[in-house]
Amino acid sequence: DTTIRELYRETETYAGQEVTLRGWVRTNRSSNKFGFIELNDGSFFKSVQVVYEQDMINNFDAIAKAPIAAALMVRGTLVLTPEAKQPFELKAAEVVIEAGSEADYPLQKKRHSLEFLREIAHLRPRSNTFSAVFRVRSLVAYAIHQFFQDQHFVYVHTPIVTGSDAEGAGEMFHITTLDLENLPKGEDGNIDYSQDFFGKETSLTVSGQLEAETFAMAFRNVYTFGPTFRAENSNTARHASEFWMIEPEVAFADLADNMDLAEDMIKYIINYVLEHAPEEMEFFNSFVDKGLIDRLNNIVSNDFVRVTYTEAVDLLLKSGKEFQYPVQWGIDLQTEHERYITEEIFKKPVFVTDYPKDIKAFYMRINDDGKTVAACDLLVPGVGEIIGGSQREERYDVLCARMKEMNLDEADYWWYMDLRKYGGVKHAGYGLGFERIIMYVTGMSNIRDVLPFPRTPKTAEF
Ligand code: 4AD
Ligand code: MG
Repeated sequence: DTTIRELYRETETYAGQEVTLRGWVRTNRSSNKFGFIELNDGSFFKSVQVVYEQDMINNFDAIAKAPIAAALMVRGTLVLTPEAKQPFELKAAEVVIEAGSEADYPLQKKRHSLEFLREIAHLRPRSNTFSAVFRVRSLVAYAIHQFFQDQHFVYVHTPIVTGSDAEGAGEMFHITTLDLENLPKGEDGNIDYSQDFFGKETSLTVSGQLEAETFAMAFRNVYTFGPTFRAENSNTARHASEFWMIEPEVAFADLADNMDLAEDMIKYIINYVLEHAPEEMEFFNSFVDKGLIDRLNNIVSNDFVRVTYTEAVDLLLKSGKEFQYPVQWGIDLQTEHERYITEEIFKKPVFVTDYPKDIKAFYMRINDDGKTVAACDLLVPGVGEIIGGSQREERYDVLCARMKEMNLDEADYWWYMDLRKYGGVKHAGYGLGFERIIMYVTGMSNIRDVLPFPRTPKTAEF
């Protein structure tokens, strides 16, 4: 068999040649002498027009009735059509129906709303939009591995099942093997999880960072790339209960090194998709987010902005804009603030650094002012926060004091504390939300439309 990708990429080689394709009917229309089938084989964003004629094939009537989604084998000659919209078509000599399809197929040829397509997550990869989204998703994953592997980062598989809350934010999905009807109660009347998971309380990981830090102290440059889970009940277009995260961790690095790495990575990803998925990107540019490609080209050729949280708060206050959630030093920046900073003030990606310690995680390094931590969030137009990162607190005593302040039990993190005792150098890392970067490069505006099978508080159909 030949693939449609090969036909598009090496058209000259195949021109005038006989080829065999296997794929699915996207559209089929015919008169009583000839017909046209738009055939897609999944190898490429675009389809091929198959022309079949009464005089050329022996099963014309059956093929004329082949419904959308039916699978066909087509043998035919590739004919160049320089005047037509498509560069070539396939003149069929033989068409075989390999699998039929039923008339109630939900993806008929018309524009469907994204909401409707979400309800048929098992079929939507066959639509143009989702064919583009999910190929780009696959390519971005590959680009990220390539980016880190080219620099000899070690890929570490951090556990999904974990005993520690990496963010200390209490947003963990608990894993239970207990009988939910008869949960064992302790003396205090609360559920006694000590009987759970072979005698240990466990959850699904919210982040692989802490484990990645252990590997950074051995391999220097490492990254994780895996699924993470958050039990936050936020029904927004940017939050999912199950999402993927990329978390590099670098020994001997400080906050500025961390931002340099993040900026290089984002630019690498953008360049990669523009180069490797031109048809998909053209589609997004035309039908999803007008001007996307120009904007992305702009982003890769300019430096990202770096401002401190304190400067950002000043800018928000000076803007005179009335926010729903009032701005004042010490607040956690809300989506409306983040978007204003990146979309209205700077109009490009912005690192906000040095947040108040009270709104950030326990592991971030305390700055000399005693009030802020060496954190860096990357905010981008259209999406908001796509990266959260920091330089880590490597000083044993400072970390202990900070954990006490936050009511975290040092004993639960004993192995993490050990890293500070044995060669615990300065180090830094960040987490990139994989779905958020996919939204950013495709222009898709809902996280449910960049996850193959989204799990959000309201949608988990499969
Ligand atoms: O800012 P977060 O919570 O940082 C961490 O988890 C750190 N441990 C990362 C690190 O330093 N290694 O999450 C990182 C990123 C966010 O910026 C966001 O892009 C994404 O993960 N994210 C989510 N994406 C989708 N749905 C959610 N519920 C998300 N929560 C965070
Ligand atoms: Mg964050």
